[in-house]
Amino acid sequence: MDRSVTAHGFRPDDLVRIRRDTFVQCVEHHRDIASTNTRALSLAEEPGLALPALVLTDLQTAGRGRGANRWWSDRGALTFSLVVPRSHVEPLSAGWTRMSLTTGLAVGEALQQLRPGLELGLKWPNDLYVRSRKIGGILVEVPPRAPDRVVVGVGVNVNNSLACAPAPVAELATSLIDVTGYAFDLTVVLVQMLRHIADELTALARADSALARRWTVFCMLTGRQVRVAAGQRITIGTCQGIDESGALQVDTAHGPQRCLSGVVTVLGGD
Ligand code: BTN
Repeated sequence: MDRSVTAHGFRPDDLVRIRRDTFVQCVEHHRDIASTNTRALSLAEEPGLALPALVLTDLQTAGRGRGANRWWSDRGALTFSLVVPRSHVEPLSAGWTRMSLTTGLAVGEALQQLRPGLELGLKWPNDLYVRSRKIGGILVEVPPRAPDRVVVGVGVNVNNSLACAPAPVAELATSLIDVTGYAFDLTVVLVQMLRHIADELTALARADSALARRWTVFCMLTGRQVRVAAGQRITIGTCQGIDESGALQVDTAHGPQRCLSGVVTVLGGD
């Protein structure tokens, strides 16, 4: 088993390496913290903060997800948040779906590079799945008092086996160690993710039209029957992929529809 697995956590030389080998300019590391996104939202208010800034923890105890969702994690999971300048990543400010999709794509690319053949897919707009189980999630938030910055939170189950998770989570989620049977060096995984995030956010900032193709190829919903619930609006049909604005394209009985937000259920099993 690798030295940075579970109990050891990140060490000072890991933090040096993260700064040296990625686009991150400053790292704030916590042995444990309630939520890296909550901390990053406060940190983002510091005017002189060197960006991108990374908030990283060995153990997140009250992780937040989209809406009222919670994010369970344990030692061995990767949980971190980046503070990035808003102008750097999203000149068109078309909501945060594109940022979420782009980060999810980047994290997925990193995982596939580390583990070729991993059956990974993006579940629009912010989840990563392996086969039919969730392995990661993205939470994009804007600090209310620093609207020129964005917080991008990433949670991925890496060396934390879901055998130790509460029953409702264990039934629906998985981790890299559960899927592959072996542990990963968390620093290597994180560096790889940060490099891909930097590249894909650059593509987003220059409005690279190839991004939508990459989202669509990576989208586990493409070609599947889906139900998208956005408040009172329910859209049912075959998913055709994701367009340049980040909307989910659904072919319904009444013609093509674009979904800009909502919760997706895959119909007819996983
Ligand atoms: C979701 O499932 O809706 C998104 C989950 C995002 C979880 C990550 S873990 C790091 C960061 N800090 C948080 O509190 N949440 C995000």
